[in-house]
Amino acid sequence: MYKIAVIPGDGTGPEVVREGLKVMAAASKKFGFEYESREFDFSGKRYLETGKLVDDNDIIELKKYNAIYLGAVGDPNVKPGIIETGVLLKLRFALDQYINLRPVKLYSSSYCPLKDKRPEDIDFVVVRENSEGLYKGMGEFKNKGTKDEVALQVSYNTRKGVERCLRYAFEYTRARNKKKKLTLCGKTNVLTYAWDLWERAFNEIAKEYPDVTTDYAHVDATTMWFVKNPEWFDVIVTDNMFGDIITDLGAMIQGGMGIAAGGNINPEGVSMFEPIGGSAPKYTGQNVINPLAAICAVGMLLENIGEAKAGKAVEAAVIKIVQTKLKSLAAGKMGYSTPEVGDLVVENL
Ligand code: IPM
Ligand code: MN
Repeated sequence: MYKIAVIPGDGTGPEVVREGLKVMAAASKKFGFEYESREFDFSGKRYLETGKLVDDNDIIELKKYNAIYLGAVGDPNVKPGIIETGVLLKLRFALDQYINLRPVKLYSSSYCPLKDKRPEDIDFVVVRENSEGLYKGMGEFKNKGTKDEVALQVSYNTRKGVERCLRYAFEYTRARNKKKKLTLCGKTNVLTYAWDLWERAFNEIAKEYPDVTTDYAHVDATTMWFVKNPEWFDVIVTDNMFGDIITDLGAMIQGGMGIAAGGNINPEGVSMFEPIGGSAPKYTGQNVINPLAAICAVGMLLENIGEAKAGKAVEAAVIKIVQTKLKSLAAGKMGYSTPEVGDLVVENL
C-alpha cells in the first residue's frame, strides 16, 4: 500500500491534480497496486487566512509518504516569493530533493514550434541540481537604500553537492541507454569559481563511466542548440539556476507548459512530482487548463515508487491522445475540457 501526499496548491493546481488522481486510480486498477492519498493544503489562500506555510512538523509528516504529488504554487494575491520559498523551495530543501529531473520529449510534430523537428529529434532529459547554487539564498545588501547600494547573491556550490548531482546524471545516462551522452551545461568562460569546480568534478567522475560519452556546452550556446539542433542532446546536467532557465525553453520545444512535467528527486528519500507550468491564475476555475503535464507527472511518480510498467502505460496513453485527439496543447484550445482530457487518458489506459 503506497502512501501518496497530494498538494493541489494554487490556481489551476487543484483542477489538474484532480485529473492526475483520476489517472492514478485507473492505473492502480489496471496494474493491481494499491495506494492511499492524503491532501495537504499549502495554498496561498491558507497562507492569507492563517499565515501558515510549510513548517517542520509538515516535513516530519511528509517523510512518512512514498511520494508527493504537487499541482502548482503561486497566488496573485500573495507577494511574489513568499509561497515559492515558503512552500516549493522549503519542500525541495527540507526533503533534500537534490535532483530536478525534467524530460523534454516531443510527442507529436504538430505541437512543435520548431520547423521540421520530429519526435525523434526532441528527446532529452535535463538533470538540474536542485539544492544549491543561486537558490541557496545566500547574499546580503550593503548600504541598502543609498546611492552606494550593493546587492550580493551568491552561487553556493559544494563539492559534495555537485558530485552527488553529477553521479546521479552519469547513472541516469547509463540506465537510459539511449545515446549514452552526457552534456555538462555551464559557463566556464566567465563564472570561473563555480564552473571550475563543476568541470573538474565532471571530468573526474567521467573516468568511472567509460561507456558514457561526455560533452560540454556553455549555457548560452545550449539555448541556441535547443532551437537549432535539439537532436544533439541525450542527457544534460547543470546547476540550479541554469537548469531553471533552460527547462522552460525545453518545455516550449516539446509543445508547451501543457505537457511538461518534472520530478524533484531525493534518491534516498521522498520525491515530489509536478507539472512545471505554474498556477495559471487567469485560467483558474474554467476547466480549460491542459492536465496532461500533471498526468505525465503521475507517470513519473509511478515509475519512481516502483510501478514502472504503470508509469510507462500512463505516458503511452498520453502520447496516444496527443497524437490522435487533441487540437492543441494550449489552455482553452484543446477541443476538450480539462476533465474530458483526463477521461480520454483513462480510456486509452
Ligand atoms: C520551477 C519554478 C520554481 C523554480 C519557482 C516557482 C520557485 O520556476 O520549478 O522551475 O524557480 O525552481
Ligand atoms: Mn522554472
